[in-house]
Amino acid sequence: MAPPGAPSSSPADDPADDPAGTGAPRLHVVSGKGGTGKTTLAVALAIALADAGRRVLLCEVEGRQGLSRLLGTAELPYEEVEVAEGAGGGQVVGLAVEPRAALLDYLDTFHGGVLGGRGRGGRASTVLDRAGAVDVIATVAPGLRDVLLIGKVYEAVLRTTTSRGGSSATGTPVYDAVVLDAPPTGRVTRFLGIGAELAQLAGGGPIAGRAASVAALLSSPQTAVHLVSLLEELPVTETAEAAAELRAAGLPLGTVVANRELAGSSAPQQVPDDDVARALGTALGTDPGEEDDLVAALVAQNRTRTAQVGEQERWRAELAALGRPVRSLPDLPGGVDLDGLYRLADHLVASPLLGSTR
Ligand SMILES: Nc1ncnc2c1ncn2[C@@H]1O[C@H](COP(=O)(O)OP(=O)(O)O)[C@@H](O)[C@H]1O
Ligand SMILES: [Mg+2]
Repeated sequence: MAPPGAPSSSPADDPADDPAGTGAPRLHVVSGKGGTGKTTLAVALAIALADAGRRVLLCEVEGRQGLSRLLGTAELPYEEVEVAEGAGGGQVVGLAVEPRAALLDYLDTFHGGVLGGRGRGGRASTVLDRAGAVDVIATVAPGLRDVLLIGKVYEAVLRTTTSRGGSSATGTPVYDAVVLDAPPTGRVTRFLGIGAELAQLAGGGPIAGRAASVAALLSSPQTAVHLVSLLEELPVTETAEAAAELRAAGLPLGTVVANRELAGSSAPQQVPDDDVARALGTALGTDPGEEDDLVAALVAQNRTRTAQVGEQERWRAELAALGRPVRSLPDLPGGVDLDGLYRLADHLVASPLLGSTR
């Protein structure tokens, strides 16, 4: 923060660094071990932001159509379509970023005038497409592929009402926030770090420039990488590894989310199995003293769950030791349907992730 009266020309005051002028992250990257709830968290976070009145872009880059499946909408095209509305008047716009389309888009936006233009030669992408270059770049070169995917996200973050994601950002941002359902922990650091890597490799030229801009955004306070975990050994271990990798790569960690927390006291009183069986037998009307399969199964489940609830505390402490804020989301017993997503979003409104309040 500059003192009053100081010239406001420091890099931090450049509106391109913070077009919304809030100082809060605008790009929320969600990663985690596979199956822990990345897609669920990304969608719930987007809804929570829309509930606060924000216009939010929700992106997926893995071509799985996980967002549309969860939201119960038609498959997302490579196009920004409104997928949900927030209670506070905000909107969630969905986008499935696909490498080939992202490349064509990039070529037309940045090289339209250089390669063929729109006159005789047709669109820049058409010219290159005929030469087979598009497929080589989009499918063969994996680093380039990732830069194109994340480049599209970058463009959406910086896009304003008067520009299309170029370097000079004037006007107001089209999206108040962008949420990215990112690759899992095992691949996310490389995915997010590819810009910096490619910027060096490519030496010069427009792709190197693009890669460098992407890298600058991702390592800036405009980005927060949230990690979702379960309160179990394996996901917690992977979360700790990912946090260390992301830190080493200079990528800004956001909040750690402990998903699927089981309700119950953190130090549950151990009720003897016999007492549980007797109470269940009475409730279910089975003969006292008689062996009953259902009662036995319920007693076993109760024992497992009691142990799990007790263990959760330990794993939550390990997550807290990573030095980032930790938020819990409840386990929804029936799984996550549309209703469940809104319930999880309510939790995120009540207890926001880092940088998602303003
Ligand atoms: N809080 C929750 N309560 C109950 N089920 C959940 C919760 N979060 C995620 N799930 C379920 O876990 C599975 C994996 O979630 P998903 O978001 O697809 O994970 P990922 O994107 O990390 O692979 C899905 O079946 C989802 O419905
Ligand atoms: Mg997913």
